[in-house]
Amino acid sequence: MKTFLLGLLLGILFIPLASFVYFHFGHPPVAVADEPFPMEATIVHIPLNARIRAEAPKTAPIEASPINLEGGAHIYRQQCATCHGLYGRPSSFAEHLYPPAPQLWQPHGNGVVGVSDDPPGETYWKVANGIRLAGMPSFNKVLNQTEMWQVSLLVANADKTLPAQVLDLLKKPIDYDPQVAGGSVAVQVIPSPAPVALSPPPLTK
Ligand code: HEC
Repeated sequence: MKTFLLGLLLGILFIPLASFVYFHFGHPPVAVADEPFPMEATIVHIPLNARIRAEAPKTAPIEASPINLEGGAHIYRQQCATCHGLYGRPSSFAEHLYPPAPQLWQPHGNGVVGVSDDPPGETYWKVANGIRLAGMPSFNKVLNQTEMWQVSLLVANADKTLPAQVLDLLKKPIDYDPQVAGGSVAVQVIPSPAPVALSPPPLTK
């Protein structure tokens, strides 16, 4: 009995001790370039997909009308493009995030472009709640519901023919003036561009 209890105690102590040693001295993956933990993607995606299945809205409260898609394109340029790229213009650092940020205007076979094969409600959930321990921010304190739906409907329709003015917005590079950004003066006030008017229509059916 005594040996059993001793064994049990050592057994209980072993796991925290082994974890301590591994986390301190075992060089677990922390850098973007490190190898992932075994089955890391599977372990992360099972609970995420379960949450989305339970909570994602089944239908969108607004239509993918030209005005909503255009509103979505303005939001996309401001809030998403740096990570998820523009039309024909992938993000410079997306693949160096861990996990990488998928390029939402990139075709990847079978006619799918970005997340056009995901229901808009699933994308809405991801935009509103973000994805923990990934670079994907939660936007529910940054954008209102209409704006989150507009941008979700936009990327859900990435495989469709979009109105010309929407496509133009998605093709235009994000403003960047190398002369200002790379100037020789150490501290420089960068003139901010005129704010883009963002007045999405109210949330209607
Ligand atoms: C700071 C970088 C960053 C910004 C800004 C960002 N995202 Fe993401 N996003 C990510 C990363 C990284 C992932 C991948 C997460 C993962 O694989 O678990 C992701 C995942 C996603 C996905 C899921 C992709 C898939 O293949 O299932 C969608 C949809 C998405 N983002 C939409 C958006 C939208 C819309 C915006 C703007 C409102 C946005 N993101 C802003 C980094 C970002």
